[in-house]
Amino acid sequence: MRRLSCSLKIVRVRTAAITLRCWAVRICRCLGGVRHVHSVGCSRAGTCGARAHTARGIETDEQAAQALRAFGELVPQYDGSLRYQVKAAPGFEERRYSKSVNTILVHTEAPGWNPPPTCLALHCRVQATCGSGHTELADMRRFVAMLGEADRAALYERDIEWVGHNTGGVGTEGVRRPVVERVNGRETLRFSYNLLTTGQYDPPVDASVDPAELPLGSFGIHLAEQAEAFFRENKISVLIPENSVLVWDNQRMVHARSAYRDARRHLTRYWVAAPN
Ligand SMILES: [Fe+2]
Repeated sequence: MRRLSCSLKIVRVRTAAITLRCWAVRICRCLGGVRHVHSVGCSRAGTCGARAHTARGIETDEQAAQALRAFGELVPQYDGSLRYQVKAAPGFEERRYSKSVNTILVHTEAPGWNPPPTCLALHCRVQATCGSGHTELADMRRFVAMLGEADRAALYERDIEWVGHNTGGVGTEGVRRPVVERVNGRETLRFSYNLLTTGQYDPPVDASVDPAELPLGSFGIHLAEQAEAFFRENKISVLIPENSVLVWDNQRMVHARSAYRDARRHLTRYWVAAPN
C-alpha cells in the first residue's frame, strides 16, 4: 500500500514530471486562481496515465464548482442536488454508509446510473484529525487485467442488477450491466463490494446474506474478495487536505474509505459528467 501525505504526493509528482506535465499544464490553465494542482495515480511512463488530481486553495462551493468545470458538468446526485455533504450523522452508526464513521469498502460511485458519473470529486472542508478517514483509490483496470481468464470473461459477460438508489431511497430505476461495459470501444467499470456480498450498497456492518440471494451468487463473493485483496495491496490512501478537491476517474478507478473517529470530518461530494 502506498500512503501519501501531501508532501509525499508532491515528491511523487516531481519524479513523474514527464508523465504528468500535460495534465498539470492543462488543469492549471483551466483552474486559473487555484494555487497548486498535482496528480496521483499515474500508471505507465510515457502516457498520460494520471487518473486522480488534487486542486488546492479552494475555500468555497463556488470555487469548487469552478475548478471542476475543467472535467465536465456537475450532475445531480441521489437526492437530486449537485452537492452532497459527507459528514457523520445520527442514525447510521451500524451501516457502511457515507454518513457514518465506518469503513466503506471498495466500489465505484453510482453504478446504477447510466452512465455512472465520469468523475467523482471530494472537497475537504474539515479534515479528520484522528489519523484516519482516508480516501483510498486503485485502478480497477489493473484488477481486471490480473484476473484469470474465466473470471475476467465473467466481468464482461455476466449482467448484474445495479440498483439506482442508496440508503436515502431516491435515485434512478437502476441498470442491468456487466462489471465491464464496452460502448463504442470504450470501457466503463462498475463495482460494489457491498452489493456483491450483501445485495445492498450500504449494508449493516454485520450483514450476512444467503449467497443464493446475491446478484452473482457465490461467484460474486469470490469476485468481491479478490477485488478487496487487490485493493489492499495496490491502493493509494489520501487524507485530503482542507480546502482541497480530490477528483478521479469514476468509470475506471475504485474507491473506499477508512474508518475514523473525528466526527468533525466534513467533505462535499460532486459528480461530474464529461462532455461526449
Ligand atoms: Fe463512494
